Amino acid sequence: MKIESWGTRLGLILAMAGNAVGLGNFLRFPVQAVQNGGGAFIIPYLVSFLLMGIPLLWVEWSVGRFGGKKGIHSTPFILDAMDRRRIWKYIGVFGIFTNVAVASYYCYIESWTLSYVFHSIIGTFRGMSQAEVAQFFVDYTEIDKTTLGIPYEAVLFYILCLGLNTWILSRGLAGIEKVAVVGVPLLLIFGAFLAFQGLTIGTSGATAEHPDANSWEGINFLWTPQFDSLLNPKVWLAAAGQIFFTLSVGMGTIQCYASYVRAKEDIALNATSAGFTNEFVEVVLGSLIVIPIAAGYLGIDWVRENAGFGMAFQTMPYLFDKWGALLGALSGVFWFGLLFFAGITSSLAMGTPWVGFMQDEFRWTREKGALSFGLIILAFGLPTVLFFHQGVFDEYDYWGGTVSLVIFALIEIVLFAWIFGIDKGWAELTEGSDIKLPIIYKYIIKYVTPILLFFVFLGSFIAPPVEKLIVLKSPQSQNKDFLDLLLENGFEVINTGNKTTLKSDAQTFSKN
Ligand code: PHE
Ligand code: NA
Repeated sequence: MKIESWGTRLGLILAMAGNAVGLGNFLRFPVQAVQNGGGAFIIPYLVSFLLMGIPLLWVEWSVGRFGGKKGIHSTPFILDAMDRRRIWKYIGVFGIFTNVAVASYYCYIESWTLSYVFHSIIGTFRGMSQAEVAQFFVDYTEIDKTTLGIPYEAVLFYILCLGLNTWILSRGLAGIEKVAVVGVPLLLIFGAFLAFQGLTIGTSGATAEHPDANSWEGINFLWTPQFDSLLNPKVWLAAAGQIFFTLSVGMGTIQCYASYVRAKEDIALNATSAGFTNEFVEVVLGSLIVIPIAAGYLGIDWVRENAGFGMAFQTMPYLFDKWGALLGALSGVFWFGLLFFAGITSSLAMGTPWVGFMQDEFRWTREKGALSFGLIILAFGLPTVLFFHQGVFDEYDYWGGTVSLVIFALIEIVLFAWIFGIDKGWAELTEGSDIKLPIIYKYIIKYVTPILLFFVFLGSFIAPPVEKLIVLKSPQSQNKDFLDLLLENGFEVINTGNKTTLKSDAQTFSKN
C-alpha cells in the first residue's frame, strides 16, 4: 500500500488548525466565558492553555508521528506500539469512539449552519421580529413542524451534511487539505469582517427599548480580568474543559493527523503554530462577534441573562437584519458560512481516526471506511436530531465531549511520560524540530500536567457541569414574578419565542 502523507507544510498546518478551530471557538467559548463571569474566566483559561493544552498538543503530535513511522494511524495501534501490555489497544479505542459520540451531535449543528446560510441567502429572516427569528429555530429543531413549508428540513440538511463529510473523507488527506486550504482563510476573512462590525457598533445601536446598548461593554466584560473567582473550582473546570475541547486534545484526532506527518518533519513548531492559531481565532475572533454585536443592540445585561448556545442562531439573524437587506444577508452568509467551515474542518478530523482504523485493522479501502463512518454517524446522530428538545444532545456533549476527553488525555500522558518514558518522549518530540522548546516543559509534562488532569478528572465527577434545560410552555409560566423567582434561584432564562427555556445547575426543578 502506498504510504499517504500531507502534501505540503501549509496544508498540514491548515488541516491541523482547521481541526482545532471549530464550532467550539465561536459557539462554546463566548458562552462559557459569559457564564463563568467574563473576565473571571480568562485567567484560568490561559493557565489551562499553558499547563495542559500546549503540553498535550506536543504529546499528541509526538505520539502520532511515532505511530506514523510504523505505518499505523489510529490510537488503538499507536498506543499498543508504545508499550507491550495488551490493555493499551483497548484504551486506544477511546480515540475512535469519542469521535463517533462527538461527531454525532457536532455534525447536527454543522448541518444547521448550512441551512442558515441557505435561509440567509433567500431572505427568510428579513423583517422578522426577534421572537420570530427565535421561534424559527424552535420550529426547525422540532423536526415534525414545517419550516417554510418543508417538513423534516433539519433531517434533510443533516443527511446532506453527512454526505458531504463522507465524500470528502473518501478522497483522503488530499481532500481534507483542499477543504482546509480554502476553508480556513475564508473563515478568517468572514470572521475579521464580523469582528469589525462588532467593534464599530459602539453605542450606535441603542434604542428606547435598550437604551444602554453598547458593543464595547461586551468586549470589556469578557476582557476585564477579575481575580475573585480564581478560587472557584467550577470556573477552573469550565476553563480546562474549554481548552481540551477547543484544542481537540484527548480525542485521537491529533494523533491521527500527526501520523501522516513525514518521519523527519518538524512537529514542535507545527504543533505550537496550530495551537496558537486556534487561540487567536478563539480569544480574538471568538470574543469579537456574538457578544459585542448582541451587547451593541440589546445591552450587556441582556447578554448576561441570555448567554447560551442559541444566541448564534436565534439572535444573530435578527440583528444582522438591522444592517439592511444586502449587508444583512451578506453578514448572515458570512456568519453561518464561517461556522460551516469551522465545523466541517473539525468533523472531517473526527472521521479520520475511524477511517484510519478500518484501513489498519481490516484493510478496508478509504471509500469503504468513509462510507461506514457516514452511516454510523447517521445512526448515532439521529437521536440528537429526533429528540433534540429532550436533552439527548447535552448527554452526548457531557459524556463524549467533556468527561471522556479528560480521561483519555490523563491516561495518555501517563503512558507517554511514565511508561514510554519522558526521556524517550522528549527525544521523539524534539526530533527534527525547527524550534528549541523550553526544557522546563519536560518537567511540566512529567509532573504538572498529569496532576492537573487528575484534579480535573476528579472535579468532573464531583461537580458535573451539566446544566439542566427546562422548557416551560404554558403561558402562566411566563408570569413575570415567577420568572424573577427562578432567576433569583440561579436559573437562566432563554427566550425562545412563545416558550421560555430555563437553565440551571440545579438537578431537579418542578414547575408547580
Ligand atoms: N476543536 C474543535 C472545536 O473547537 C472540536 C473538536 C474536538 C474537533 C475534538 C476535533 C476533535 O470546535
Ligand atoms: Na477550537
